Amino acid sequence: MSRHETVFVPEPANQRSLRTALGSFTTGVAVVTATTDDGPIGMTANSFASVSLDPPLVLWSPAKSSRRHTPFVTAQHYAIHVLGADQHDIGERFVYRASDFSGLDWFENDEGVPLIAGALARFECARWTVHDGGDHSIVIGRVLRAAHREGEPLCFSRGSFGSFAGKG
Ligand SMILES: Cc1cc2nc3c(=O)[nH]c(=O)nc-3n(C[C@H](O)[C@H](O)[C@H](O)COP(=O)(O)O)c2cc1C
Repeated sequence: MSRHETVFVPEPANQRSLRTALGSFTTGVAVVTATTDDGPIGMTANSFASVSLDPPLVLWSPAKSSRRHTPFVTAQHYAIHVLGADQHDIGERFVYRASDFSGLDWFENDEGVPLIAGALARFECARWTVHDGGDHSIVIGRVLRAAHREGEPLCFSRGSFGSFAGKG
């Protein structure tokens, strides 16, 4: 075992350490979108994961503390956009600006969900189930339609956006 390893029992006082440990799991970056009475909303999320191929199910987890939690867990339909490395600005935008679609190339699907053009992959979902996940909800959706394109992924690791350095 490394002498430099930090071992701890997760508790409120050391939540920063738990965040650091969890942040070691490098992920892609997604933007989840849905419609509200006030218009389209989006949220940058890296909790996206595949669940099932048949039926086609995917999940993501919005924080209960988020102002966007209620609209996202109640939405009957939503879309998950996996961002390409060239969409870094979109990932940053939807961390803070939930309803700012200005200047974006976007359109609505048959269910009225805002779709952002140019994603590396896109999953148009119908809500399947919502589970309790502590201070987050776990939203599972059935994929109605999916799309993908060639390109490099946007990544997130230890608190920073970056790119994938593959072996080529
Ligand atoms: C890379 C990245 C991934 C994130 N993933 C999630 C996520 O999976 N679930 C979540 O609730 N918030 C996630 N966030 C935070 C939200 O994007 C957003 O900052 C948060 O909802 C802001 O709170 P508000 O909705 O009250 O404005 C992530 C932020 C970043 C930068």
